[in-house]
Amino acid sequence: MNLPNMQEARLRTDALVEVIEAKNIKSDRFKNKKYFIRTYGCQMNVHDSEEIKGILENLGFKETLEVQDADLVVLNTCAIRENAHDKVFGFLGRLKHLKKDKPDLIICVGGCMPQEESVANLLKEKYPFVNIVFGTHNINDLGTLILEESKKQLIEVYSIEGNVYEHMDYVRDSKFTAWVNIMYGCDKFCTYCIVPFTRGKQRSRKMAEIIKEVEKLKEEGYLEVTLLGQNVNAYGKDLDSDYDFATLLENVAKTGIKRVRFVTSHPWDFTDEMINVIAGFENIMPYIHLPLQSGSSKILKLMGRRYTQEEYIALYNKIKSKIKNVSITTDIIVGFPNETDEDFAETLKVVNECKFDGAFTFIYSPREGTPASKIKDTIPLEVKEQRLYKLNELINSYSLEHNKKYIGKTEEVLVLGPSEKGEDKVYGYTKTMKLVNVSNAKDDIGKLILVYITDAKSFSLDGEKVIFAKN
Ligand code: 5AD
Ligand code: SF4
Repeated sequence: MNLPNMQEARLRTDALVEVIEAKNIKSDRFKNKKYFIRTYGCQMNVHDSEEIKGILENLGFKETLEVQDADLVVLNTCAIRENAHDKVFGFLGRLKHLKKDKPDLIICVGGCMPQEESVANLLKEKYPFVNIVFGTHNINDLGTLILEESKKQLIEVYSIEGNVYEHMDYVRDSKFTAWVNIMYGCDKFCTYCIVPFTRGKQRSRKMAEIIKEVEKLKEEGYLEVTLLGQNVNAYGKDLDSDYDFATLLENVAKTGIKRVRFVTSHPWDFTDEMINVIAGFENIMPYIHLPLQSGSSKILKLMGRRYTQEEYIALYNKIKSKIKNVSITTDIIVGFPNETDEDFAETLKVVNECKFDGAFTFIYSPREGTPASKIKDTIPLEVKEQRLYKLNELINSYSLEHNKKYIGKTEEVLVLGPSEKGEDKVYGYTKTMKLVNVSNAKDDIGKLILVYITDAKSFSLDGEKVIFAKN
């Protein structure tokens, strides 16, 4: 067993990153078997699950959406906040019962949670019915672990920083829009965040490999790619090369794929070159997710975010003025240790000034091993909940205000699938990443269409496909 050590992770030096060809082991041993996968957390995990599905299908498994029909279950976990943990342990309780009736069921727990020493130990001691425990750095080994699976619990969580794997077989969730990893890990070490520990140090993929992947996706008919990384605009800083994120973005746009997106950007690394490239290419979507985290410069300093309130607002205004019709969303944490009412008022002030298109908002959750978890937290939960409620009300009012401006306009929408809002509707996204439920477009899944916007809510738009009269 190889467990991560938080202290070691923080003290690490620049270990050499290796680029490794993915294993893609093929076997028909599990030809008539089914797998069930549940993914928690961010887009990175969603894309990791596409890799896990590739591994399982190469071994012969087929996917089932019903857990009780599965012969193998994978939980791809998230560690970002405590409630993510709770959900996984809750589901493991259900699986324990299922396994009583189905003793051969193979249960695998992977992703960010097992990268935490305490979780890996807990799984070993209290959850012996879990067969395989793997981390974020060794997904590539999952196939081997399953083939080796014995009655004894297998725990393989690497403490090393992780390498870069190329040419993996993915089973992608969509045929029209694809995630493309451009980097792994994060070197920012924001004081509240567990990601640098669970995902390791920053490792960028080589630009040529990324471009090859995008070109292949385009050939396969994909219309959109989203470049993925914890900190995309720090791309390339760890490579011995002269290119950065702006160069990469430009080259991805030049492949001619219809839509290019990227998440997530850090304000610290947001360069003028990047803004110019986004503004200069029609196929780079005018949508930026730019986490604020707090509006108080005092709290930002405690968070290790490397910018002040004024610097964030200046960057925000620059992006708004240079990129036509850009929409900007953000992440905000309330209740960071020592956040006073005045600090929270500063957050509201920034929200009132920036009027974000939307935001993901969170109550601070102490993560074991992070510097912030050592700061005494004196704010009562009730106060944190009130702050979150107030913040959400404000955020939602601005989202609605932005969305209402779309009523009566015609927008290009990439239609992704059937809508939850009624059988006759489909859903898709505008260039600015607004969710639209569209009527009379049932045959347009996988297409870019023009949609006339008829109504707006805080989280979505309604619209009708624009049909041009034939002359
Ligand atoms: N507590 C609450 N929210 C957190 N985030 C990251 N770590 C924590 C934490 N310990 C939020 C940040 C980040 C988003 C993905 O999750 O806002 O941008
Ligand atoms: Fe976490 Fe900060 Fe890195 Fe984002 S930039 S993943 S918040 S450490």
